[in-house]
Amino acid sequence: MNHPTPENIMKTSTAFWASKVLLTAVRFQLFTLLAEKGTISGSDAKSQLGLQCSDRHVYDFLDALTSMGFLKREGILDSATYSNSPDTDLFLDKAKPSYVGGMVEMLNNRLYKFWTNLDEGLLTGLPQNEAKDGQNLFQELYADAGRLKEFVHAMSGVQMGNFMAFSQSFDFSQANTLIDIGGSSGLLSLMVAKHQPHMSCISWDLPEVTPIANETIEQFGLQDRVKAASGDFFKDTLPAADILVMGNILHDWDEETKIVLMKKAYDALPQNGIFVAIENVVDPGRLENTFSLLMSLNMLIETGNGYEYSLGEFTNWAKQIGFKSTDIMPLAGPTSAAIAYK
Ligand SMILES: C[S@@+](CC[C@H](N)C(=O)[O-])C[C@H]1O[C@@H](n2cnc3c(N)ncnc32)[C@H](O)[C@@H]1O
Repeated sequence: MNHPTPENIMKTSTAFWASKVLLTAVRFQLFTLLAEKGTISGSDAKSQLGLQCSDRHVYDFLDALTSMGFLKREGILDSATYSNSPDTDLFLDKAKPSYVGGMVEMLNNRLYKFWTNLDEGLLTGLPQNEAKDGQNLFQELYADAGRLKEFVHAMSGVQMGNFMAFSQSFDFSQANTLIDIGGSSGLLSLMVAKHQPHMSCISWDLPEVTPIANETIEQFGLQDRVKAASGDFFKDTLPAADILVMGNILHDWDEETKIVLMKKAYDALPQNGIFVAIENVVDPGRLENTFSLLMSLNMLIETGNGYEYSLGEFTNWAKQIGFKSTDIMPLAGPTSAAIAYK
């Protein structure tokens, strides 16, 4: 018989300490520095990062990162040298296209402080971010060029692994065109074009995002098969394609709006067209995919009434609209593709 212990309570209560250590290392661009230098000592790290704390706290910071698996270390304290772990070298070196730190940066700069007001969000049902006073989140975010860029890069960071998995594993054999609605930087379209040479893709989003998507498309050199286009999914008819994707779009909105958006997708698809939502789909028993439940609370913080949903809920909406059937395809970690066939 398992006896009660306070271990899980204390581990979860202090989880923000561990989180803040990683967020701070990314803010200092420690992993980018290590990727450039290979290895450095604690005293090098101290001077390169401009730290004024004691040497002991520099080692505490670096060794905490090491013990969590984000750094490798040879030697100890004064004799220690540190280098990146394979994960941080690939995904947190800003010089690499695989960098996912955009999301980590946004977690540090925006969400960390907004989550301080989770209690207020739960008590009032209102967003706790820039849109706290009732503004449209995207208008607020996009009014500032720095915030716009940070948000777009954050989206790429969250979805990178999922888009890689989807573009390589989904069956594209019956399709030639894909439109990614709310496609942000264009990353999904680019991944699909890269791995599926017969596919042409359009990344469709609000006009403020188009220049950033065009920049990304140019960086990948895939301008012949990936285009950026602009529109407003509440005001405009959605453009037509064999596959229409919405990545982390439905979770921004309440049930009524989710159905409106799925219906617009249905109307834009040809017969036998496919609608795909790439999101943190909640497991049926609401116990396994903790991340999806936390992301759902993140939607309370960000939009007030957006939430993550299960395949059962998605299927109900899809059937109500007229889709023939639905399916689910697990992608990276907690994320899946919820698929509806017209
Ligand atoms: C949470 S982000 C998801 C971005 C991307 N699809 C992904 O999976 O990472 C939501 C996206 O919806 C776009 N968006 C919000 N309102 C929109 C609207 N009315 N019309 C078109 N796009 C919109 C935003 O600009 C943003 O890129």
